[in-house]
Amino acid sequence: MSQYTLHINGTTRTVDVADDTPLLWVLRDHLGLVGTKFGCGKGLCGACTVHLNGAAMRSCQLPVGAAASGKITTIEGLAKNGKLTPVQEAWIEHDVPQCGYCQAGQIMSATALLANNRKPSDSEIDAAMSGNLCRCATYTRIREAIHTAAK
Ligand code: FES
Repeated sequence: MSQYTLHINGTTRTVDVADDTPLLWVLRDHLGLVGTKFGCGKGLCGACTVHLNGAAMRSCQLPVGAAASGKITTIEGLAKNGKLTPVQEAWIEHDVPQCGYCQAGQIMSATALLANNRKPSDSEIDAAMSGNLCRCATYTRIREAIHTAAK
């Protein structure tokens, strides 16, 4: 067990966990940030996507120690003072979610994409989002929402 101080969603949180604990379980089980989902646990589905220093990361594959020195953002930290981000607004406008389980991860990946590419093409969106799987196949609406958020 080690103590880690995490910079997360604009605040500082301290946890005592085993060194190899994936960030996903620290978020969900120790900090109550359950918007980040467990899907595969193998880095294959994207349900657990968070931002580390603005980059989309699979938190199921990220040992807590590797995240401790960075700035972590989860889906709970995207909106500021109750104001949704353009990506979140676009998700609502296009009624993107079906079952919703993967959508936090989808939004985190889309947000990271738009931070680096303000006008992504369809192929750039598909490439950036290819690691985020959706069993309801909401991919068309996801692409439309990203284009709307990019405007
Ligand atoms: Fe992390 Fe699937 S739960 S990629």
